[in-house]
Amino acid sequence: MHSPFPSRFFRPVSQILAFASLILLSGCDLNFWKMQGHQTTMIANGPVAASQLSLFWVTVWVTLVIFIIVGAVLAYATIKFKARSDADEHAEPPPQGHGNPMVEIALIAASVFALVIISIPTLKGIWYTHDVPEAQKADAYNITATGYQWWFKFDYPEKIDGGAGLVTGNELVIPVGRPIRIQLRTVDVIHSFWVPKLAGKVDMIPNRGNFLWLQADAPGYFWGQCAEYCGDSHAVMRFRVVALAPMEFAAWVAAQKAPARNVAAAAGAAPGPRPQLATFKQNEYGYSEKWADGSPINPLQNWVDQQKPAATEDAALIAEGKALFGTKLCLACHTIRGHGAPGIAGPDLTHVGSRTTVAGGLLENTPAQLARWIAHPELVKPGNKMYASGYVPMNIKVADAEAVALAAYLTSLK
Ligand code: CUA
Repeated sequence: MHSPFPSRFFRPVSQILAFASLILLSGCDLNFWKMQGHQTTMIANGPVAASQLSLFWVTVWVTLVIFIIVGAVLAYATIKFKARSDADEHAEPPPQGHGNPMVEIALIAASVFALVIISIPTLKGIWYTHDVPEAQKADAYNITATGYQWWFKFDYPEKIDGGAGLVTGNELVIPVGRPIRIQLRTVDVIHSFWVPKLAGKVDMIPNRGNFLWLQADAPGYFWGQCAEYCGDSHAVMRFRVVALAPMEFAAWVAAQKAPARNVAAAAGAAPGPRPQLATFKQNEYGYSEKWADGSPINPLQNWVDQQKPAATEDAALIAEGKALFGTKLCLACHTIRGHGAPGIAGPDLTHVGSRTTVAGGLLENTPAQLARWIAHPELVKPGNKMYASGYVPMNIKVADAEAVALAAYLTSLK
C-alpha cells in the first residue's frame, strides 16, 4: 500500500478519529455517556428489568475477560515478533507449525466453560421473565395493550357499571409491587411493547397472542416506546407507564371509571380572549425537564398535578370546544363517556385532560401542544390516521381558533 504515512503512525490516528466521531454522533449528550436517559436499560426499576440487567453484566464480564486475554496475547505476539530491521522485513517466514493439541484442547475447554457461565443465568432469566412466577400468579394484575399506528390502547379488567371495561390510551397506570401481566395485541402491523426500565421488549404480532409481565418496585414515571418498525411514525410511537401505590391506584381507577367531567357554562356567556395558536418547529416535540425558574420537574408529581382541573378555566370556550367536537366529527373516532361520543378508531378521550402526554406519548399535554396537534396533525406525526383517515377523506378543516377551543375542552376532561 502506498500511503504517505507509515502504518504505525496512521493506525492510532484513525482510531482517535473513529472515537471522536462517536462522541460527535452522540451529540456530546452527557446522559448518553452516563447511560441515565429516560429509556436506558442500565437502570432497573423492577424485578424483570433487574434480571435482564444482571444477565447483561454477566455477559459483559465474561466477554471482557476474553477480550483482555486475547488482546494481551495478541499485543505480546505483535510486539515480540515484529520486524526490527529491513533485513527482518524481507526475511523468509519462519517454519510454520500446525498448532499445539494441548493448547487447542485447553481453548475449547475454556470456551465451553465461558458458555456454561453465561448459559446458566440466561436460562434462569428466560424462565423468570417469560411469565409471572407461580407463587405470584394469584396476585397478578391483567391488562391488555393494543398497538395501533401510532399509539397504544390499554384495556383494564375493571368494569364500568358491570358493563364495558375501562379503556385508556398512551399512559399505562399500574399498581406498585404487583406483577402486571400484559396481553399484547395489535390491530394493524407488528409493533413492539417496551418499557426499558421495567422489562425487555416483546412484539405485538397480528393474529398471535403474545404477552409479557413486569413489575415496578416503587412509584414512578417511566418512558415506553414501540421498538419494532411499524411505518412513518414508528420512531415517535411512545407511551408512559405511571406506577402508583395501591391506594393511589385505586383512587385513579375510581376517577377513570367516572364519566367525563362537565364544565357548566352560563347561558349566553361569550368566551374571553383566547390564546393564539402557538408556533412550533416541525420536529419540536420536547418534554420539559425543568420549570421556567430552572428547578427540575418531578415527572410523577407533574402527573399527579395533571389530575386536577386548571385553576382558571374559560367555561364558554370549553362549551364551544365541546360543540366543535361534534360538528367536526371528532366523535366518530373518539369515545368521551357521558358526552355522547362513541368512536373507537382513536384513543378514548374520556379523561384525556388527566394525562401528561398526547399524540401517542409524543407531545406534552399542554393546551398549546394539544391545539397544535389538533390544528396540524400532519406536521406533528407524519401519516397519522387522524389526518390521513379523518381530516382528508371527511374534508375536515380546523381553524386555529377552533383548535384552541377544542384544546380547552379536552384539557377540561380530567
Ligand atoms: Cu409501532 Cu413501531
